[in-house]
Amino acid sequence: MNGEDTPLHADTGVTSGLFVERSLNEIRFWARIMKEHSLFLRLGFRAEDTQLIQEANQFYRIFEYIEQTAHSFNNQTDPEQIRRFNSEVQQAASNIFLFKRKVLGLILTCKLPGANNFPLLVDHTSREANYFRKRLIELNEGKLQSLPDAIIKENVFFLRIMADHAKFIGHLLDPSERKLVDLARNFSNDFDQLLYQARDLESMKPQSQTVPLLDQFLDQNRVSVVSLRDFKKTARDLIEQCKIKSIIHPLLADHVFREADRFLEIIDMFDTHLTHGTP
Ligand SMILES: [Fe+2]
Ligand SMILES: [Fe+2]
Repeated sequence: MNGEDTPLHADTGVTSGLFVERSLNEIRFWARIMKEHSLFLRLGFRAEDTQLIQEANQFYRIFEYIEQTAHSFNNQTDPEQIRRFNSEVQQAASNIFLFKRKVLGLILTCKLPGANNFPLLVDHTSREANYFRKRLIELNEGKLQSLPDAIIKENVFFLRIMADHAKFIGHLLDPSERKLVDLARNFSNDFDQLLYQARDLESMKPQSQTVPLLDQFLDQNRVSVVSLRDFKKTARDLIEQCKIKSIIHPLLADHVFREADRFLEIIDMFDTHLTHGTP
């Protein structure tokens, strides 16, 4: 990677090469996720919700364009250009966040009777948009959280995301798939427990931020994320092969699988930094 040792902000140590690489990595991953959310939301609207369908389609096109643009850049792209791109993408992420919250409001006030998006799913996708938005702000401001803070915060965020996924899968499988529904419920309980543990560790900050405790925290979470990711992969394959009864879109099955994989990458990255003593 080029330019990695050129300080972007001397006080934070974020290098411009790393800045470009991290920005593109976040945008490539999350723009595709946002694009797919637009599709899932659209599929859940009723035929008469033409305005909402149009808005969702527009977000689909916007994030498709952002995704393509991110792939047209590379690690050698001018950091200033990436900084501007990050700001534009951050605006788009804020807009889709507001759209999702508007839809949530419509559902919760019973303005969309018979529509098929669960309120928790809409809330969940809005949390992901907000996460994306905040990552871009952090990147552009060149601010890096301390490793112990980042470890706890990211895990609290992703454990809840994983717990939600297990709940969605459990509710979108056909009720006659009793064994799979049971499995999904067990994952939901497991991740609810892990989330509570993470919040406990968070409330015990900063005293809880010792290397042995954080290391064990990551290891324990990793075990559950690996099994959930494998379960999602199996579910995705079974859905694609039409071997199980559900109303889960094959793309949604793949989508939640990719998000689990992303969480695992983040856990591994933290583990490496923690073990190698990088601050
Ligand atoms: Fe998502
Ligand atoms: Fe998700």
